[in-house]
Amino acid sequence: MRTVHKHDGKLLGIVDRFNGKKILLVGDVILDKYTFGEVSRISPEAPVPILSIERGKDKYVPGGAANAANNIAALGGKVLLASVTGNDSRRNELISALRNQGVEPDGLVVDESRPTIMKTRVVAQNQQLIRIDHEKTHFVLTEIENKILDYISDAIQEADAVIISDYGKGVITKSLVKQVFALAKKYGKKVIVDPKQSDPEYYRGSFLVTPNLKEASELSQVEPLNEEDIIQMGKKLALEFGTNILITRGKDGMSLFQANEVVHIPTKAREVYDVSGAGDTVVGTLALALAAGAELVDAVVLANYAAGIVVGKFGTATTNAEELKKYIQEEARGH
Ligand SMILES: Nc1ncnc2c1ncn2[C@@H]1O[C@H](COP(=O)(O)OP(=O)(O)OP(=O)(O)O)[C@@H](O)[C@H]1O
Ligand SMILES: [Mg+2]
Repeated sequence: MRTVHKHDGKLLGIVDRFNGKKILLVGDVILDKYTFGEVSRISPEAPVPILSIERGKDKYVPGGAANAANNIAALGGKVLLASVTGNDSRRNELISALRNQGVEPDGLVVDESRPTIMKTRVVAQNQQLIRIDHEKTHFVLTEIENKILDYISDAIQEADAVIISDYGKGVITKSLVKQVFALAKKYGKKVIVDPKQSDPEYYRGSFLVTPNLKEASELSQVEPLNEEDIIQMGKKLALEFGTNILITRGKDGMSLFQANEVVHIPTKAREVYDVSGAGDTVVGTLALALAAGAELVDAVVLANYAAGIVVGKFGTATTNAEELKKYIQEEARGH
């Protein structure tokens, strides 16, 4: 197995070409809400803390596929976002959170049968007290799927790469995925899938699938007890799906499985504060790099750098081209 860890002079040039690249992103969007308050006593009614809300301190952040969108926009890309929301006030909150990051909501279809998914974290004294979820996760009906496809059919023609970001909330049906693959083939676009489902039909026709270790284990039915198991897992999936496989391995970096080569990329994180959303940074960076004409291994090395930067920040975070270029240069100097 080959190990990639050295700086490559091509990388800076690739990042310079991120700007303005268009990524069609199909997936489940989520609105992350943070409510801040203070706890100073226990309720007399039940043994629970009483949260006293600090007015005006709610924060709304794009989550799920919308976080991947956020990451792409922050890196200089243009996102063509295809998804659904409910017909409610949260849709407006999500749209304004997306607009704040430069993402337009043209491809956000209204589905009356579900609420806009919102995950509310109630935080007191810097600690999460509870999370409250609003969601319905049934698959979209054909009528809604067709509306999403209408948007995709146009958007894919101008896109430089495509991401399917499946959070298992109902947008990513097997039939939608197959039609995206057919369109991608017709127009010669690469599709990256951040997976959720176990059915191989979800992946045959993609260019790259990016499971984390747990997802790769479930998909391949291989238990990762040692390095050999992980290699077996990746090879099995690459063969079964007829695609490239990138297993993201948290603190152990990433392993890329192509038809005749396995490459391991050690993690580049220097400090780790918050790993949530790192997977969104990975797919976003991969898509931009491929859109910029990078070879897959170079795209993966860049995605690994970008993930290394965001896990060093608090909260679901993003990075930008400047930071990424600085990081590449520092790594080259052995920082
Ligand atoms: N603890 C960590 N230390 C260093 N790097 C990390 C750590 N966790 C994640 N990363 C970086 O982020 C990448 C993606 O993380 P991970 O494998 O956890 O994906 P994921 O489970 O899909 O993430 P999420 O679903 O939370 O967005 C890793 O390959 C690595 O580059
Ligand atoms: Mg993930």
